[in-house]
Amino acid sequence: MKGKILVTGGTGFIGSHTVVELQEAGFDVVIVDNLSNSSADVVDGIEKITGIRPTFAKIDCNDIDAMRDLFKKEGNISGIIHFAASKAVGESVQKPMLYYRNNLVSLLNIMDLMTEFNVKAFVFSSSCTVYGEPDVNPVVETSPVKPALSPYGNTKQIAEEIIRDGSVPGTCYKSIILRYFNPIGAHPSAEIGELPNGVPQNLLPFVTQTAMGIRKELSVFGDDYNTPDGSCIRDYINVIDLAKAHVKALDRMLEDKSEAPVEIFNLGTGTGVSVLELINTFTKVTGVEVPYKIVGRREGDIEKVWGGVDKANDVLGWKTEKTLEETLESAWKWQLKLRERGLM
Ligand code: UD1
Repeated sequence: MKGKILVTGGTGFIGSHTVVELQEAGFDVVIVDNLSNSSADVVDGIEKITGIRPTFAKIDCNDIDAMRDLFKKEGNISGIIHFAASKAVGESVQKPMLYYRNNLVSLLNIMDLMTEFNVKAFVFSSSCTVYGEPDVNPVVETSPVKPALSPYGNTKQIAEEIIRDGSVPGTCYKSIILRYFNPIGAHPSAEIGELPNGVPQNLLPFVTQTAMGIRKELSVFGDDYNTPDGSCIRDYINVIDLAKAHVKALDRMLEDKSEAPVEIFNLGTGTGVSVLELINTFTKVTGVEVPYKIVGRREGDIEKVWGGVDKANDVLGWKTEKTLEETLESAWKWQLKLRERGLM
């Protein structure tokens, strides 16, 4: 066993795929999740894939006493990956205090507990949202951080600052901040995947639900952007590729290879794909049409952003392996599985 890793938000979309990769790399995993946006059944899905049942504790990271009890009970936690956070941009505008509390109090608690329990390695889930609308693509880690467009985006920026400021000399742990582009797809086994609550806000779950007939049609938010086909461009990264980068990040810190107390890496494919390209590729690989209509722009949307990933390639020794086609296929297989299970 390589060590014990605490994964907050470990039953969520990215969290669950990362738990699988951690177990497959030989780590012992303890999941903490308050199940506010996921289900305990995900633990069964993880066990089906890896044959190992991770420890699961239903705890809210904002509850420092419950978290401390868990640290005491588990003992010897080598590293923490902190996914647990609220992530709906629109909701964050409606309920800013909820977002600041959920996303920042939990972080402060974890940083305090890492010091108290002498944890060595910390991985934080950040987002390309910190770059706002970039002046130049691809964006790299040294590209300017732009003023946040929502309380959600602001929590990621503030969290990055807290981690930087908290890393004073003598801190027992190293940190790696990972800035995700747009994670999509599902485990090829279709045992775990993305399961949004209610109407999906993100593009791919809306595409797969429309293809399934759950939604009548997809609204494409704008075709008058300054892009080749007029629709917005993003960097869609396979969730398993993304998950593997977390293992590399932990290994780097646990093997004392970090070159600074806090390091930042972009995690993307390095390639931009438009909304219309994504829909067309989905139809090409699945053979299923996705009814869509072009509607007005969504407020606050970024026109185009994709990530420069040389630093993650060279320093972490990580690169994406999955194609967009296989990623879309995996998402469709997951959607079919949800239907089979009567969940969608
Ligand atoms: C969004 C958030 C981002 C957050 C991320 C979390 C905004 C502006 N940004 O990113 O801060 O980190 O989710 O997952 O909300 N689209 C459609 N029709 C749809 C849904 C989406 O055309 O029904 C388009 C959007 O206009 C966008 C692209 O698809 O161009 C991707 O949208 P989405 O999946 O919501 O991701 P982001 O906007 O990149």
